[in-house]
Amino acid sequence: MNKRSFLITGASKGIGLALAQTLANTGHRVVGIARHAGGVDFPGILVPVDLGDRKATEQALATLTQQYAFDGLVNNVGLVRPQVLGEVDLDDFDAVMRVNLHSALLATQALLPGMRERQWGRIVNISSLTVLGITHRTAYAAAKAA
Ligand SMILES: NC(=O)c1ccc[n+]([C@@H]2O[C@H](COP(=O)([O-])OP(=O)(O)OC[C@H]3O[C@@H](n4cnc5c(N)ncnc54)[C@H](OP(=O)(O)O)[C@@H]3O)[C@@H](O)[C@H]2O)c1
Repeated sequence: MNKRSFLITGASKGIGLALAQTLANTGHRVVGIARHAGGVDFPGILVPVDLGDRKATEQALATLTQQYAFDGLVNNVGLVRPQVLGEVDLDDFDAVMRVNLHSALLATQALLPGMRERQWGRIVNISSLTVLGITHRTAYAAAKAA
């Protein structure tokens, strides 16, 4: 089996941490991102970055892609701000787009050149069944559909 390197966003708990553990257990290198990296039993390198902060995200991705030759990316981080359509606040809508969608685009664009160069890569985007329609998930469903 080839040992590969994966970047996982939102990796300190939940699905992201479970994915990191599974990949590490099968012999792969895992780098994770979360806002809080302290006190987490992470099976690799866990980097503290707020993925809702574009500048910090771009800087961190630039540094990480210099340090590691990533083969795979899991765009896993998610943010929900529950609101019904009639009450969606545009600031909340933007925040949901930044964390769910912009971070996925930034990470994909940061890792793509290396994957192309090495002629191998995998990108997984964690979406949600809420894209099929559910109340209070208006912005979230829009971001996950995108
Ligand atoms: N759980 C479900 O039932 C479900 C269903 C459908 C889809 N999903 C999707 O699956 C993905 C994972 O969900 P989950 O339930 O496993 O999540 P979770 O348990 O809430 O974990 C979220 C992870 O993202 C990190 N995070 C949150 N905001 C961040 C930010 N601004 N910058 C960097 N890291 C951030 C958290 O760490 P910090 O707090 O330290 O930042 C944590 O590691 C999400 O995209 C979610 O929308 C989940």
